[in-house]
Amino acid sequence: MDSYHIWGGKPLSGELAVSAAKNAVLPILAATAMIPGETIIENCPELSDVHNMCEILSHLGCRITREGALLQVDAKGLFRCSIPEAMMKRMRSSVFLAGPLLSRCGRAELCAPGGCAIGSRPTDLHVQGLSALSAEISQQQGRLLCRAGQLLGAEVFLSYPSVGATENILMAAVSAKGETVIRNAAREPEIVDLQNFLNACGADIRGAGTEEIRIKGGRRLSPVRYRVMGDRIEGGTYLMAAAATGGSLRLRGISPQWIAAELSVLRRMGCRIEEGAQEVFLQAPSRLRSPGEVTAQPWPGFATDLQSPLLSLCASAEGTSTITDAVFERRFQCARQLALMGADIEVLDRTAVVRGVPMLRGSRVCAQDLRGGAALMIAALAAEGKTIVENICHIDRGYGKFDIALQTLGAHIERRSADGRKTAGVSEEQTTKKEA
Ligand code: EPZ
Repeated sequence: MDSYHIWGGKPLSGELAVSAAKNAVLPILAATAMIPGETIIENCPELSDVHNMCEILSHLGCRITREGALLQVDAKGLFRCSIPEAMMKRMRSSVFLAGPLLSRCGRAELCAPGGCAIGSRPTDLHVQGLSALSAEISQQQGRLLCRAGQLLGAEVFLSYPSVGATENILMAAVSAKGETVIRNAAREPEIVDLQNFLNACGADIRGAGTEEIRIKGGRRLSPVRYRVMGDRIEGGTYLMAAAATGGSLRLRGISPQWIAAELSVLRRMGCRIEEGAQEVFLQAPSRLRSPGEVTAQPWPGFATDLQSPLLSLCASAEGTSTITDAVFERRFQCARQLALMGADIEVLDRTAVVRGVPMLRGSRVCAQDLRGGAALMIAALAAEGKTIVENICHIDRGYGKFDIALQTLGAHIERRSADGRKTAGVSEEQTTKKEA
């Protein structure tokens, strides 16, 4: 297993452009399965989750070709509607195929998806929503067998604004007969991007980004060439890395509105922030101060995906911080690893109380999930001495070439294989393969 070796204590500074958003490109790739033709994603990020999604699409009969950032999915030849458990278990977004397969073939056979172990993460809202559209879904030994003669538009009320359930229902509704209204829908910007993609293909969807989304079904979809939105979570992570090290960063490719809640917290911590149309400039103080109380919640609240990176910031900020995650019930695993670096964090249920220490110290730590791994990287960059972050396959899922990006900001970081050799990041064959 590869690891990152980081020599901390250096302020980061410079400019970075974010990649395309993982949590936008994954549902969009799933949606290509219902579009018979050659869809092109112009700026596809190099992430292991993207590679895994392409493997699923390939298994279903799509032809995938990739030239650098340009990814083409030819879904004309799709002939399977069943996904093996091993593929489903690699990531959460495999469940996004349910809606598109029901749309395309009237059936889908999958099982409970994988993904970061940050809570129970059931799929009941996905099942309820698809059933409301007249899909018949039976659950046998962990497998989800979905059938739909004809999907029919309906009113769907989500008891919780689930991002994935909103996206799955939206994709199924595109092919349903009649109109679908999703109430209490998730409002994340990535859902707006999925709407924009599907409307560019010929769908008629309105209201994404608000709690009520209306979909006029039955429209024919044609393939398009599409540019996915920037990754606000990747961008927020880099801003926090600059903030943790007392540095500065000019970040390009995201709208400040996508991370308004996070920028407000960084300002409370003492950062000076300037906002442009598609860029943010951050100048950190030599030492951050506690933001007080922060609760991670559905958008437009503070993003749960930036809650772990925030823990790292608070670990060496002045004062005591109280961080609550109202989205996932078990998303503080990295606290134990941060404690190995000298952090003083007490976790009680969905809340972590962080007493800031003057300086973290380098240690050997282990990533246990994607954003917790990013949090360890931030802590290592701020700490004095050397840190080794192990199990970085978790980080590869959501950050392409993380080390290269941080090196451009002046970080002293090396990616090493298990036998200690320097390596080049997400395995080359995974990202430059001509035809998966
Ligand atoms: C998406 O996960 C993202 N993943 C997550 O990002 C993100 O943290 C999350 O949305 C919240 O913003 C992708 O888009 C691929 P949810 P998802 O359904 O769809 C409960 C990352 O680090 N729930 O909004 O799984 C669930 O247990 C990843 O990039 C049900 O109870 O999130 C959780 O407590 C991590 N029943 C809450 O809702 C359901 O059927 C939020 O889940 C579905 C969800």
